[in-house]
Amino acid sequence: MEELQTLVLTTLDRDNVIEDTKNLKSTQGNALDQLAVLGVLNSLKSKDMLDYTPLTYEYWRLTGEGEQLAKEGSHEARVFAAIPAGEEGLAIKQLQSILGATAKIGQGNAFKKKWIAKKGDNLVRCVDTIEDQTQKDLQQIQSTGQLQDTKTLNDLKKRKLVEKQKTTSYKVTKGPEFALEVKKEATDITYEMLQSGEWKTASFKKYNFDAVGVPPAGGHLHPLMKVRQEFREIFFEMGFEEMATNCFAESSFWNFDALFQPQQHPARDAHDTFFLKDPATTDRFPRDLMERIKVTHENGGDTGSTGYNYVWKEEDAGKMLLRTHTTAVSSNMLYKLAEKTKELGEFRPAKYFSIDRVFRNETVDATHLAEFHQIEGVIADKNLTLGDLIGFMDVFFKKMGMEKIRFKPTYNPYTEPSMEIFSYHKGLKKWVEIGNSGMFRPEMLLPLGLPPDVRVIAWGLGLERPTMIKYGISNIRDLLGHKVKIDMIKEYPICRLDKKMGKELAGINDDEE
Ligand SMILES: *[C@@H]1O[C@H](CO)[C@@H](O)[C@H](O)[C@H]1NC(C)=O
Ligand SMILES: *[C@@H]1O[C@H](CO)[C@@H](O)[C@H](O)[C@H]1NC(C)=O
Repeated sequence: MEELQTLVLTTLDRDNVIEDTKNLKSTQGNALDQLAVLGVLNSLKSKDMLDYTPLTYEYWRLTGEGEQLAKEGSHEARVFAAIPAGEEGLAIKQLQSILGATAKIGQGNAFKKKWIAKKGDNLVRCVDTIEDQTQKDLQQIQSTGQLQDTKTLNDLKKRKLVEKQKTTSYKVTKGPEFALEVKKEATDITYEMLQSGEWKTASFKKYNFDAVGVPPAGGHLHPLMKVRQEFREIFFEMGFEEMATNCFAESSFWNFDALFQPQQHPARDAHDTFFLKDPATTDRFPRDLMERIKVTHENGGDTGSTGYNYVWKEEDAGKMLLRTHTTAVSSNMLYKLAEKTKELGEFRPAKYFSIDRVFRNETVDATHLAEFHQIEGVIADKNLTLGDLIGFMDVFFKKMGMEKIRFKPTYNPYTEPSMEIFSYHKGLKKWVEIGNSGMFRPEMLLPLGLPPDVRVIAWGLGLERPTMIKYGISNIRDLLGHKVKIDMIKEYPICRLDKKMGKELAGINDDEE
């Protein structure tokens, strides 16, 4: 680069102008790479040291076969050379075994030029000597890049022996700041320059406003967190408060007992739940609440229920586990709401949501991991009905563009009535389950201390499925876990959980509409 720069500058200094950079030669006498020349010219032009105009010109170049013929002679000349002088000539078969493919092409041309003739099964010469004009033409093109006779050129092109090339070189003239040495340019004015007065004479590098900026190497949200952010926006828009979910480890008390799940419930089995070894147990839950929950489980207490009719054990409630659902957080929040109600002397409606990780001992496959994220919404207000839940779900899912929603009765341990939520999937042409919902049982709410006319509706859905649909991921292990590519996190765009996203979830193709 520096050598090239010096060459350009000294040549300009000597000749005042470089008519064509293609005539410049390196110190080794080689032609220059015009792209490298352009780089040098641009750099010097930016300092007003020179100016240039591009020159485009066309020339001809030999193809691989053309080069071979320029060296060894044309096919027809080689055929002629292979045939000995005299009456006898050479058998056609023999010619083929000597020259191979050349024999076939060469023969035709040699006949046309009347160099050879057929005599029985043999070929004989018709002339004593020949002039291989094709070879000469090719050699001329090889050394000069041109040939006067355009008809011959076109013939050679048809025979795929030559091809047209285009190059650009440059005419260079001196600029106002021309000098043999490139002045070092200051990129920024400094404190020292101001003090010494050097700034008055210093030459500054021009700003290049066309330069592409360095992409900022900031942090990136994981795709799940990008989608989570969009769900959060929907909840905030609808006046929800986010619950603090920073407690992966929970007691069975909040995870199960407070939700009126009996202690023999199969979900409490080690097959489904990860229990902690250290600490294995806790007794840090409110004693009075524990007493109320105990009697509710055993005989219904004053909830009007008969309970489960078994002996409730505190040691089972104290077992520590990784929470199996975010409802563990919701039960805790509803207890706090009840405490606040007592403190204020009046009940204030509340809307809570959470989106965070839960853990279940599931067999890992393409769509299941032992940890995943739940989106959960909870509304507590007086006299809420199933109609409120259905109406609310309609609004919530419509915000994501899911227009067709259906509900199906189902059983959940701590809600009654309960409904699975379905959305019509146009692609699959069927209704697919997108979430679960219900009204918390009085056996759960009354022991928490909520006023008897307060109803709580709740619903939940997974975060992984919408994320996988949004980013076209088919294996959950590409989304979460040790096999995830770090680049993926960088490259996936932010998520817009707009109508389009909901349509994707529902399998609705925009083109269809
Ligand atoms: C998970 O469940 C399997 C049986 O399905 C069991 O063998 C294993 O011990 C459980 N793991 C934990 C950590 O509880
Ligand atoms: C709830 O329903 C009860 C019984 O129908 C009624 O007395 C009460 O006023 C209702 N409360 C509200 C806030 O609507």
